[in-house]
Amino acid sequence: MSPFRVTRTLPEDATDAALRADVHRGLTGRPKTLPPKWFYDAHGSELFEKITELPEYYPTRAEREILVARSGDIAAATRARTLVELGSGSSEKTRHLLDALTDLHTYVPVDVSESALTQAGQALATERPGLDVHALIADFTAELTLPHTPGPRLVAFLGGTIGNLLPAERAAFLASVRALLTPGDALLLGTDLVKDEEVLVRAYDDGAGVTAAFNKNVLTVINRELGADFEPDEFDHVARWDAEHEWIEMRLRSRTARTVKVPALDLAVDFAAGEEMRTEVSAKFRQEGVRAELFAAGLELTHWWTDVPGRFALSLSVAR
Ligand SMILES: C[S@@+](CC[C@H](N)C(=O)[O-])C[C@H]1O[C@@H](n2cnc3c(N)ncnc32)[C@H](O)[C@@H]1O
Repeated sequence: MSPFRVTRTLPEDATDAALRADVHRGLTGRPKTLPPKWFYDAHGSELFEKITELPEYYPTRAEREILVARSGDIAAATRARTLVELGSGSSEKTRHLLDALTDLHTYVPVDVSESALTQAGQALATERPGLDVHALIADFTAELTLPHTPGPRLVAFLGGTIGNLLPAERAAFLASVRALLTPGDALLLGTDLVKDEEVLVRAYDDGAGVTAAFNKNVLTVINRELGADFEPDEFDHVARWDAEHEWIEMRLRSRTARTVKVPALDLAVDFAAGEEMRTEVSAKFRQEGVRAELFAAGLELTHWWTDVPGRFALSLSVAR
């Protein structure tokens, strides 16, 4: 087994200031919102893995197809010795990259989900003697301090997770990634692409109801961590395409008028019958838009690969 270390930059207690602040801001705002990072407790991370296997959820398969076809090109273009992966989750697809990056010395998976991170990190350290695995429990939207590891560094952000950030958050995030890169380093970014509305909505509203359970899990997290009395079954899962912003919105719709108490925040929140609370956006992209957003953050797109039907893209960019 190769070295496996876990460094925590998030507080041990999930009822930390960030959760409180996010829930307070989100439930008192108009419309009500909750940020998607709180979906991912151990159960939420398991549900996400189930989503990736659903017939309707094409992004994981499409991105895997690109990684299978292009990991050799990515390795040749970057010659990375350190792979940092933001929002790494189960690190499943990453295995294709790890196989191709023959000069790799250290893998740094970064995630808020401690359970997903330790499970994946330990498995990789066991399977790959010679690979140093240094997991980081951290929020990738906050300032990241990476361990000192050999360069060149490849920062990967897969799964289309960048689409969960709003445009201003994306700009700040990309600028912070740019600040991590020194000459010779690169960013590998997975972006889901704009496509037929029906295909998109089905990917976020599957027939088996797994995405609905994932969506409602955020209420269970708030109940457990902040003592709230949300009744998840009294909320319906909603997935909608917003054509103006080109993003899918996941929401939770209250079936009836109700007041939800959140004792840890000393808060009572009124929901009208049918009121919808936004829990996630998942932006879809076009090549020109990705190139422009990268450019604005000080990055230059050097490679753009899609799967064969053109559903998903992986791009490589470097500091300019
Ligand atoms: C959509 S999943 C993608 C997982 C994996 N990269 C894939 O492609 O299948 C998003 C991942 O990012 C993590 N995540 C979400 N928000 C985060 C944040 N602000 N900081 C760190 N990790 C976050 C979640 O725990 C989850 O593992």
